[in-house]
Amino acid sequence: MSSDVLQKARDFEAQYGPHIPDQERPAFHATPTIGWMNDPNGFSFYKGECHLFYQYHPYSNEWGPMHWGHLKTRDFLRWERLPAALAPDQDYDSAGCFSGGAAELPDGRQLLMYTGVQRSRNADGFLQDVQAQCVAIGDGLNYEKVLSNPVLDAGDLPKGGSAIDFRDPKIWREADGTFRAVIGNRTADGSGAILLYHSEDGLKWEFVRTLDRCCNQYGKMWECPDFFPLDGKQVLITSPQDMKPVGLEFHAGNGTLCLIGDYGPETGFVRQSAQAIDYGLDFYAPQTLEAPDGRRIMIAWMQNWDTVNAKPCNCRWFGQMSLPRELSLKDGRLIQNPVRELETYRTRRVVHQNIPVCGEINLPGVRGRVLDMTVTIRPTGPERYRWFRIRVAKDGEHETIIRYRPDQGTIKLDRIRGGLPRDIVHTRSFLVRPRDGEMKLRVILDRCSLEVFANDGEQAASAVIYTRQEADAITFEAGGTAMMDVEKYDLAFDEQEV
Ligand code: FRU
Repeated sequence: MSSDVLQKARDFEAQYGPHIPDQERPAFHATPTIGWMNDPNGFSFYKGECHLFYQYHPYSNEWGPMHWGHLKTRDFLRWERLPAALAPDQDYDSAGCFSGGAAELPDGRQLLMYTGVQRSRNADGFLQDVQAQCVAIGDGLNYEKVLSNPVLDAGDLPKGGSAIDFRDPKIWREADGTFRAVIGNRTADGSGAILLYHSEDGLKWEFVRTLDRCCNQYGKMWECPDFFPLDGKQVLITSPQDMKPVGLEFHAGNGTLCLIGDYGPETGFVRQSAQAIDYGLDFYAPQTLEAPDGRRIMIAWMQNWDTVNAKPCNCRWFGQMSLPRELSLKDGRLIQNPVRELETYRTRRVVHQNIPVCGEINLPGVRGRVLDMTVTIRPTGPERYRWFRIRVAKDGEHETIIRYRPDQGTIKLDRIRGGLPRDIVHTRSFLVRPRDGEMKLRVILDRCSLEVFANDGEQAASAVIYTRQEADAITFEAGGTAMMDVEKYDLAFDEQEV
């Protein structure tokens, strides 16, 4: 049954959401119906359809009391809007319905598990948020919060765990029909840990073990965990707050962390390696699902908490999701590539091969803001080029640059001239591994973002750009001479029925 608070949100989005024309949104990245979006929630299949919920504040383009917005998709690219699923309408979630997950119950209903936040005063009279895990059950459209909420609270934490930072349950159903959840928590040393819980029915939960802890090494609080098998290994991902930079691997602020290891019921999780997930400017709180065909697919909030105040004036929606990515492992590292469904929207193929590049050039048919382009760069002979630049979203005034330096093995994203007149972080560099002297960059543009996949997904880097849509030129430039192949497709979504 829908509460007044939820009904108000549903009425609001139904009335004002349609005011936003499709052209003001990305063509294939998920955005909120209206207002603010952050983390992906409940990314999962239910009755054969992919559902994506999201942290949602419909009433403004700023973070506020968290609701859950709701989308559905058949191909991870075209999103059907459904009415808001959850609103902060109970004592135990009166300060917000924070992030969580979803799973199908054996009786065919859909279970949502989220963090209910309640505001209270601490011993010094200061406001503090207490977090507990709650459950709502529904039919893919309407959800009922259960009477036993919260289903996990301070009493279910291991020793030293803080109920002030106890959030973001990601749940899944095991092959034996039982449920598991991973939840972020702050431990006595002030940094994060990921806790594993078990349930027979999705309603009564018990603590199993701590899977891994930060020990003040990778940031502080670990938010939004996920835990899944991949190519014979076990992967634990989380989004740490307050990271310190480490070389070009991790940057300051909110980051992403992928821990790869093994898991056994006796040994627990044994971590073998740690890496960042995305090396660009805007990517946080990723969540994955297992598709019916076995693919592990990840989606994230394509935004950065430290730059959320830098947005176009009076925008009617803010926050978008990344392009969903297929995950795999190679040589102990995470490989990420755009979902293969993207290829079905490719049109107007343009190919240029063996093009020598020295000054800045453009090529016939290579321009646009909604496209999928692969650029392969190699030396022309024994002499190496010093650098290579791809400029996108370009006009006389604007450009966003992807710069490759073969001597350093680095790529730098640079959106300083992307059109946003705010002094936020606009550049990020990361390490890549050229193969046989060749560098392959797949660049996906969708009106207000670019996502770069280096060498078939060895690195991925995302950035939001707010450049006017008329800025659609693309150029290539080398310091020295480089040889280049370009394969470019427009991506057309209007030409096919949903
Ligand atoms: C991560 C996060 C989560 C929390 C949510 C609140 O971006 O801080 O930990 O559940 O956002 O909107």
